[in-house]
Amino acid sequence: MLPSAADLLAWYDRHRRVLPWRVLAGERPDAYRVWASEIMLQQTTIAAVKPYYERFMARFPTVAALAAAPSEEVMQAWAGLGYYSRARNLHACAMAVVAEHGGRFPDTEEGLRSLPGIGAYTAGAVAAIAFDRPAAAVDGNVERVMTRLFAIEDLLPGARPLVRDRVLALMPHDRPGDFAQGLMDLGATICTPRNPACGLCPWREPCLARIAGTQESFPRKAKK
Ligand code: ADE
Repeated sequence: MLPSAADLLAWYDRHRRVLPWRVLAGERPDAYRVWASEIMLQQTTIAAVKPYYERFMARFPTVAALAAAPSEEVMQAWAGLGYYSRARNLHACAMAVVAEHGGRFPDTEEGLRSLPGIGAYTAGAVAAIAFDRPAAAVDGNVERVMTRLFAIEDLLPGARPLVRDRVLALMPHDRPGDFAQGLMDLGATICTPRNPACGLCPWREPCLARIAGTQESFPRKAKK
């Protein structure tokens, strides 16, 4: 049996986490809100991000509001989240969106990647979640899910292009954003580093690591 996007989407429809940057099922979220959440979530947990996110969005409700704010105000709103280069890049990115893109985020991975602070992961996440583009957003959770599902033995980070190809091959063209977030949720709540809850996983049957009983040996990583 092969894994299918439909199995993950059906699971996501039942178990999707309610998070402040998510919208109701079937609605498309604002790219600014998605982008800001992804930057905050890069080195910070969901629990820590939530209250900052709400306050940040209340203070800077649009990319234009953020771009127009003095940098001290942005840094102050960020204070506590840490990794302050993220806040500087966030502000620079908002200014670039206003100055170079008329206040609208580019709707392709390539366009997004040209902006300050947006790398492969963030470009994929925003393209998929905000614009329903079939783009891969590969973070540590997604690496774990995919290397287990396909028993990918190649070492990370070298195996990342392979993981990305696997995500793209599974990606459904009708619901890329939900698929991307379903993968994230699966990695965070079911396919955990230790004691994964395989009995609850929508991909338990096709998962090659589960079949072999080797779940916790993935992902394989190059020795530092
Ligand atoms: N981690 C990073 N981005 C996320 C998102 N959009 N939903 C849940 N977890 C995430």
